[in-house]
Amino acid sequence: MNALSITEIKSFLSKGLKEERFYHSLSVSAVAASLAMRYGADIQKAELAGLIHDCAKAYPVDQYVKMAQDFGISLEQVEIDNPQLIHAKLGAYYAKKDFFVEDAEILNSIIYHTTGRPGMTLLEKIIYIADYIEPARYKAKRLDDVRRMAFKDLDECLNMILSDTVEHLYEKKYVINPLTLETFKYYSKA
Ligand SMILES: [Fe+2]
Ligand SMILES: [Fe+2]
Repeated sequence: MNALSITEIKSFLSKGLKEERFYHSLSVSAVAASLAMRYGADIQKAELAGLIHDCAKAYPVDQYVKMAQDFGISLEQVEIDNPQLIHAKLGAYYAKKDFFVEDAEILNSIIYHTTGRPGMTLLEKIIYIADYIEPARYKAKRLDDVRRMAFKDLDECLNMILSDTVEHLYEKKYVINPLTLETFKYYSKA
C-alpha cells in the first residue's frame, strides 16, 4: 500500500488534531521542506515527516502508556513517568497504520523529534529543528538567533537548541530524558 498523499493526510489530521496542533503541524511541514531545500535533503520526505510528526496528539495522553503496551511498543521508565513523551513513538506507529508510511528515515525522524539522538540523520535534524523554530513558537529564548542559525549551520543550531532545552528543563526542575542529555553532549561544542 502506498503512503497516503499529503492532501489526504492533511484532511485526516484536520479532523483529529485540535486546531492549534493542526496549524503547528502545517508549519513544521513548511519549515522542514524549506530546510530540506537549503541542505539538499529530500523535500517530499521532509514535508511529509513534518506534517505527521505529532499525529499521535489526536489521542489523550492518559491513554498513551496503555496504547503503547497494546501495540507492543517498548517504553523507557522516563516515558512511563512522563507519558507525553510517548507521542513520538506512537506517532511513528500511527504513521504506518493510518498513512501507510514505511520509510524508516521518516519514521525515525518522528520517533526522535522530541529527544533527538546522537548521530542524527539529516532528516532527523531537520524535523527536530523545524519543530522548535516554526513561526508560531515564541517561548524559547534567543529564537531569532536559533532561527537564523537553522539556515546557516544545522549542527550549531542543534547545539543551541539542546543547550537551551537542557538549561530550561534544569531551571524548571523537569525530568530530563537521558536520551536528550546524550544528544546534548554529542552536539555540544563545549
Ligand atoms: Fe511533538
Ligand atoms: Fe511538534
